[in-house]
Amino acid sequence: MAEPSAGVRAKLWDGPVRIVHWLLVVLIAFSWWASGDHLNWHRWSGYTIIALVLFRIYWGFAGGGAAKFSSFVKGPKAVAAYAATLGKRDVATTPGHNPLGALSVLAILAVLLVQVGTGLFAVDIDAFEGGPLSDRVSFELGREIADWHELSFRALQALVVLHVAAVLFYWLWKRTNLIGAMITGRRTLPSDPGLAGAPVWRLIAGVVLAAAIAWVLSKGFRL
Ligand code: HEM
Ligand code: HEM
Repeated sequence: MAEPSAGVRAKLWDGPVRIVHWLLVVLIAFSWWASGDHLNWHRWSGYTIIALVLFRIYWGFAGGGAAKFSSFVKGPKAVAAYAATLGKRDVATTPGHNPLGALSVLAILAVLLVQVGTGLFAVDIDAFEGGPLSDRVSFELGREIADWHELSFRALQALVVLHVAAVLFYWLWKRTNLIGAMITGRRTLPSDPGLAGAPVWRLIAGVVLAAAIAWVLSKGFRL
């Protein structure tokens, strides 16, 4: 697979971004599997996903370098300009998510919030199993929310298929290996963008905050 012939192996994705990404992949697959007969595991996997998504959103503001939303979320003009160059068969050199990919990142995070948010209130058909907040709503509403939970999962599946197709498109058409960068954190770029990391206390604060919120939610606010 070709990379820019002249260039440097630059640091791109920090550890937290990569760990969150691959844990999301594993836990979403696990949650899907466990949604049939293992609702207890489904809920626990879901609480971990809540913590991961909350942490990633926090990190988009408090983190550094390519993790920051402000580094990759662009306006419609930039998105349109980037989209116009999409068909070109050149190696992608954006030091982070490109303006179009940024939309997909935001969409996945938004749908994940809906997914876990509806899960908290969802209840199964015989009212035997439910999310930790399902007893705060009527059974009928809990069932309706369970339908939204299922619908949101369809949307998540569609986004993930599109996401993986985009990554493959970059690999096969644009000859750019984005997957390796999400594993090692480094990508060959024309020059080192010199991305600055965030101080470690912000990482610790984010992990503690996200875990605490997920824990409180898992208890249905009954501490
Ligand atoms: C449940 C499945 C998946 C979800 C929810 C997901 C979600 C995400 C999210 C939210 C990001 C943004 C990363 C960040 O800035 O924090 C991302 C990026 C990325 N994902 Fe996934 N992903 C999934 C599956 C996969 C798979 C299977 C692959 C490999 C084939 C993959 C490869 C990548 C790559 C290479 C990037 C970086 C793209 C870039 O360079 O702009 N993802 N993914
Ligand atoms: C990304 C995370 C999640 C995914 C992908 C997911 C996916 C699913 C799927 C596919 C179903 C089966 C829907 C059906 O066939 O009726 C389901 C059911 C369910 N989920 Fe989740 N879920 C997630 C998070 C959560 C969370 C955080 C909770 C609550 C703590 C939760 C609670 C439930 C409950 C109670 C059901 C049963 C509803 C019913 O029987 O209709 N889920 N989930």
